[in-house]
Amino acid sequence: MPDPDRSGGHFLRLDQLHGSLADPAMASMNFLNEVAIRFPDAISFAAGRPTEDFFDIADVHRNLDVFVDHLCRERSLTVEEARRTVLQYGRTKGIIHDLVARQLAVDEGIHVPHESVVVTVGCQEAMFLVLRALRSDPQDIVLAVSPTYVGLAGAARLVDMPVRPVQGGHRGVDLDDLRTQVARARRAGLRPRALYVIPDVANPTGISLDVDTRHELLRVAAAEDLLILEDNAYGVFAGEQRLPSLKTLDSDRRVVRLGSFAKTVLPGARVGYVVADQEVRDHGVGVSLLADHLSTIKSMLTVNTSPLAQAVVGGALLTHGHSLLTANRRESDVYRRNLSLMRAGLERHLAPFADRVSWNTPSGGFFLTLTVPFKADDALLERSAEEYGVLWTPMSHFYTGDGGIHQIRLSFSQGTPESIETGLGRLASLIGACC
Ligand SMILES: Cc1ncc(COP(=O)(O)O)c(C=O)c1O
Repeated sequence: MPDPDRSGGHFLRLDQLHGSLADPAMASMNFLNEVAIRFPDAISFAAGRPTEDFFDIADVHRNLDVFVDHLCRERSLTVEEARRTVLQYGRTKGIIHDLVARQLAVDEGIHVPHESVVVTVGCQEAMFLVLRALRSDPQDIVLAVSPTYVGLAGAARLVDMPVRPVQGGHRGVDLDDLRTQVARARRAGLRPRALYVIPDVANPTGISLDVDTRHELLRVAAAEDLLILEDNAYGVFAGEQRLPSLKTLDSDRRVVRLGSFAKTVLPGARVGYVVADQEVRDHGVGVSLLADHLSTIKSMLTVNTSPLAQAVVGGALLTHGHSLLTANRRESDVYRRNLSLMRAGLERHLAPFADRVSWNTPSGGFFLTLTVPFKADDALLERSAEEYGVLWTPMSHFYTGDGGIHQIRLSFSQGTPESIETGLGRLASLIGACC
């Protein structure tokens, strides 16, 4: 039926499109990007992007060659077969699944069958696949440690899966609140399927779970019959004292591991993965891996992850003995230097407000949290960009409800010593004006 309000050509009504499109939370990324674009000269502590100091097109060519050579030598493919493997449509689960499994074994002591790895278009696709599979009816919900990465909340919104927050607290996950939220959800007739958590130098807070909390979390997950969705996007940069990942400690196949090569190899490649070694039983008749089912979803979403992009990542893994720790020595040094500059700079620049502001001290990663006595919202970010020339992220963007209004996420992955120094000076001026 034509709409009477119609004034021009064909149009669509927002209220007749998927509900996520009218959800303000979905626009959060766009807002933050748009502020950055409008104020290009502002110093940014906002973007969570890896350093570009070592980006090199020659590496892309080299890694591609290394991977093709590997196909011929190690997998005994002919030149024609190798060419087809990287240039033709490919296996849905990916062509570097074995290399990803090796990397997990080498760097993290995770031993999983190669078949349990699905190589995805970034970690973002991995989240979508898992949530799509877990959300079978409207009672299914996912729990997420709050504040949480916006990509998880967005993916859940796209599959109509409500996200219930679990307090992070000072340990990175409040296990009493986890039990409370599970019980509350079940009383309301809901079915909590999984808890999403970033155990190492989390985005946005920079907090890491200590070892005892990791063990306890696995015990609670078993007792409450929950899966854990472990996102380890920054684990390689966790600092000197890296702790065992949840998947390393998982003896019960409770943990679905979500990974990204965006920070550790190349963001432009858009390659991530999911390890889903859980068994799926079909009324006791057949047994398959959750990874097989994620692959079925993927076959109808992105068909396969670009084999060329996978080859570049695969070549990088081969070059560095399957170790992302080794591959990222130079990058880790930059992030470590920047973190210590941030800590020293905050001490100095914010000394006059020491009784009113505080910040945490992550062991590594890209982010830290600054707590302030005033509202650090989108309006203040705009003012900060326009009047003070410094960008940061209001922590409220990472909360599903209210929360984080007095907190700021500061990213230090991309700064130079000079920009960090100048940026913190500008931030101190803003804080001085607001305190
Ligand atoms: C915690 C976390 N997970 C996943 C991602 C996204 O990974 P990818 O770029 O591989 O989709 C990010 C990116 O910022 C992140 O911070």
